[in-house]
Amino acid sequence: MHPMLNIAVKAARRAGNLIYRSTDKIDHLTVTKKSHADFVTEVDRAAEQVIIQTLLEAYPDHAILAEESGAQGESEFLWIIDPLDGTTNFLHGVPQFAVSIALQHKGILTQAVIYDPVRNELFTATRGRGAFLNDKRIRVTKRLHLADALIGTGFPYSNFQHIDAYMNILRDVMQQSSGLRRPGSAALDLAWMAAGRYDGFFETGLKSWDIAAGCLLVTEAGGLVSDLGGENGYVKTGHICAGNPDIHGHLLKLIAPHLTDGLKATKV
Ligand code: IPD
Ligand code: CA
Ligand code: CA
Repeated sequence: MHPMLNIAVKAARRAGNLIYRSTDKIDHLTVTKKSHADFVTEVDRAAEQVIIQTLLEAYPDHAILAEESGAQGESEFLWIIDPLDGTTNFLHGVPQFAVSIALQHKGILTQAVIYDPVRNELFTATRGRGAFLNDKRIRVTKRLHLADALIGTGFPYSNFQHIDAYMNILRDVMQQSSGLRRPGSAALDLAWMAAGRYDGFFETGLKSWDIAAGCLLVTEAGGLVSDLGGENGYVKTGHICAGNPDIHGHLLKLIAPHLTDGLKATKV
């Protein structure tokens, strides 16, 4: 395992264990509302601190972009961290959440870890070396047709700027695919797609920490990721379409007539 991935795994496991231990205390947690339907708990913050501490102990000069504490440091190495993806699930005792850590080197994703502490599933990827689930190689599905495909998504829940376009896309995917799921953790959705559990995934308005690690997992598992117009600005815009190469193409075709200006492709 690449030494930087190894450190990221150590950080993700520490945070995951902390989160898992807190699941029987959810009724006593301090919960703060960041915006409409967007909550943060002391567990999110504590998990983030454990991750940052572990990473900076090994690499004191690296820069950090973390959901709860923001940006720190300047370096060509940038760690992008979502300490707890799926906070709403966590708060309700729904066992679908994960720790997500990615490393960008000079703007290119090079390492990825997504850890699901409930199932003890560790998804990892290093650029050019494939994607793994608990040390077993994973690959995207080979399904060719949308009619046979299971598609993951996330509903808009706080910012409803793109809701009309999203609903149009949702209606078409609902009618043309074999099924749709909204499990509530974008990081796990992408990791599951990489592992062949879904054939495709789309969502609007995500943040870079929701998707950075998941995107590398998908591409290293042989899948494709783009924004909703097929371009590559998705880590910034958060409008994302992923899939095995065939399903990704079908989804883009289905989405095209519903693309509004706000959701349009942004070349980076
Ligand atoms: C959320 C989850 C969810 C997605 C939201 C994200 P959080 O992250 O990934 O699946 O639909 O857009 O914000 O807030 O639980 O870290
Ligand atoms: Ca998130
Ligand atoms: Ca989070």
